[in-house]
Amino acid sequence: MLIRDETARDIPAISRLVTEALLMLAQSTGTEAGIVEKLRAQDALTLSLVAEDEGEVIGYLAASPARIGTQGGWSVIGPLVVSPSRHRRGIGTALMAEALRRLRTTSRGAALVGDPAYYGRFGFRAFPGLSVTGCPPEVVQALPFDGAEPRGELIHHPAFGLNQQE
Ligand SMILES: CC(C)(COP(=O)(O)OP(=O)(O)OC[C@H]1O[C@@H](n2cnc3c(N)ncnc32)[C@H](O)[C@@H]1OP(=O)(O)O)[C@@H](O)C(=O)NCCC(=O)NCCS
Repeated sequence: MLIRDETARDIPAISRLVTEALLMLAQSTGTEAGIVEKLRAQDALTLSLVAEDEGEVIGYLAASPARIGTQGGWSVIGPLVVSPSRHRRGIGTALMAEALRRLRTTSRGAALVGDPAYYGRFGFRAFPGLSVTGCPPEVVQALPFDGAEPRGELIHHPAFGLNQQE
């Protein structure tokens, strides 16, 4: 298995994979593939990593610029998806490890909205005052690379359609 940057040829496979993998998720909005397309169109995909096996895209991770409160320099990770037939073989972990390795050199920290039971293993955790309107606080998590506590609303790129006050 290879973790690499997306190429133009991967784009249809990425959209299919994101749609397929997130169909199974209760909290999925069904708009995630469209979010990736909007981020790409607005040149806001800081990372667009694919996991490839024998020529097939079997995993995907996106990252985009974000703020926490008034503080810029954060990256939001998501969506992160692995082909349902390939779950629990370390592919999500490999994508996340590569993303964090790269983001450490460019960002103040990484943040995401997701299941703490999964993301805790990478060092993500909730912080007092770290929020996304409409989300339970325990699913809003950050990994500051300098150890400083993030505080305030996690402001995603407008392509996510969150943070309506933006
Ligand atoms: C979540 C997801 C990306 C994990 O990818 P994966 O390749 O299956 O994960 P890994 O094989 O790297 O798993 C690493 C560990 O996390 C555990 N794990 C996997 N999914 C988990 C989940 N949803 N909750 C808790 N633990 C989970 C695995 O058991 C494994 O633990 P172990 O090392 O002790 O065996 C994948 O299950 C997926 O695509 N799910 C649907 C989409 C989704 O939920 N995305 C996240 C929100 S955008």
